[in-house]
Amino acid sequence: MITTPQLNTPLPGPKAKAIIARDAHVVSPSYTRGYPLVIERGYGAMVEDVDGNVFLDCAAGIAVTATGHSHPDVVNAITEQAQRFLHMSGTDFYYEAQVKLAEDLAAVVPIDGGVRSFFGNSGTEAIEACIKLARYATKRDNLIAFLGGFHGRTLGALSLTASKAIQRRGFGPMMPGVYHAPYADCYRCPLGLKSESCAAECIDYIEDQIFLHLVSPDEVAAIVVEPIQGEGGYVVPPDKFIQRLRELTTTHGILLVADEVQSGMGRSGKMFAIEHTGVRPDMIAIAKGIASGMPLGVAAARADIMTWPPGAHASTFGGNPVSCAAAVATIKLLKARLIANAAEVGAHLMAALKALEGKHPLIGDVRGRGLMIGVELVRDRKTKERATDERDAVVTAAFERGLLLLGAGRNAIRFSPPLVLSKAQADTAAKIFDEALTQVERSRR
Ligand SMILES: Cc1ncc(COP(=O)(O)O)c(C=O)c1O
Repeated sequence: MITTPQLNTPLPGPKAKAIIARDAHVVSPSYTRGYPLVIERGYGAMVEDVDGNVFLDCAAGIAVTATGHSHPDVVNAITEQAQRFLHMSGTDFYYEAQVKLAEDLAAVVPIDGGVRSFFGNSGTEAIEACIKLARYATKRDNLIAFLGGFHGRTLGALSLTASKAIQRRGFGPMMPGVYHAPYADCYRCPLGLKSESCAAECIDYIEDQIFLHLVSPDEVAAIVVEPIQGEGGYVVPPDKFIQRLRELTTTHGILLVADEVQSGMGRSGKMFAIEHTGVRPDMIAIAKGIASGMPLGVAAARADIMTWPPGAHASTFGGNPVSCAAAVATIKLLKARLIANAAEVGAHLMAALKALEGKHPLIGDVRGRGLMIGVELVRDRKTKERATDERDAVVTAAFERGLLLLGAGRNAIRFSPPLVLSKAQADTAAKIFDEALTQVERSRR
């Protein structure tokens, strides 16, 4: 098994070029391909393209392939299930895989009391289920989310999403009753405060501005928050931000929904990122890493909240048995070794990336938890001018050296590798990142 990048052709190679040319005619142009990678196969944290080039994957299909590409235990679980039956619709019939997964989730989600799970196929559907359940359970209409947040692209979830304007442009009007508050991005404090004196004043904004001027708290069904902002730039808020949010929601009978679609399933070094704060939410949206790449989205909720009657909400494909089998195998692997590996190798990678700060003026901030690490690039450390073009150039330069990265937010780079990444591979990633930064910094002088 190859564990470091090996490039044999110029990129893209001839086979990749041909497939990309066909794609250009028939596939939706709304997709955001940053560089021309055409995958042929993957194993562990490595990806091979159609021309035989091998890459180290620190993107994991947008933070999805938690157990690595095609982990044998997951593939066996999928194969075994697929040979028996592919579909029956868990909304109208029963099968054990869905029950077993709901039991396994009930045992691991940090929600108090009994837990029930609703199954969909994606992160956005998990959020839609949370929105509908919050409105149904509270009999209130309004929702609060955060600037910079990403919750999906179906219209309910999109109304919560406030990441990039292009994601909303041309699709209005949004769902009514959604208000946005500043997120605790302490590197760029939305209130201009210093992190040493921060008491999570962005929560005051909800009380002093939103509740005073826009909507009464007794008409707010839920506050939806990413415990670590993903698409928004891998922003880690202080724990007290989430803790104060819990206090506020409890005071006003508002439900707290943790969107763990990106930060969940071991990526942060705990099963769910909110566990780092000690806060117990009322609902959790889960997707991405849960089934190692098979489509699955889950809205897990306090059992006393999820009391909607038969017919209220369902999905034909949701909780597909093959996806459920993959998820059960994934959770087993995460608990056995991979969450601990994410914490350990994540700390190692974080230290290696932080060590580059002294050498590269482009690096403004390195932050994260476990194997969810963001590096924000700036043109000037004092003014924090965003280095968006440089960020894109670094991602491309890394690709050209065999490292797969993704941007996040306007000027950050995310490291979201499969949770099987080894320390040696983390070192390789940091080394290539170092070289890519050097190349871009030289070219900008
Ligand atoms: C935090 C968060 N919520 C929701 C979503 C939407 O998930 P999906 O693309 O599976 O619909 C994403 C996707 O990136 C996400 O990061």
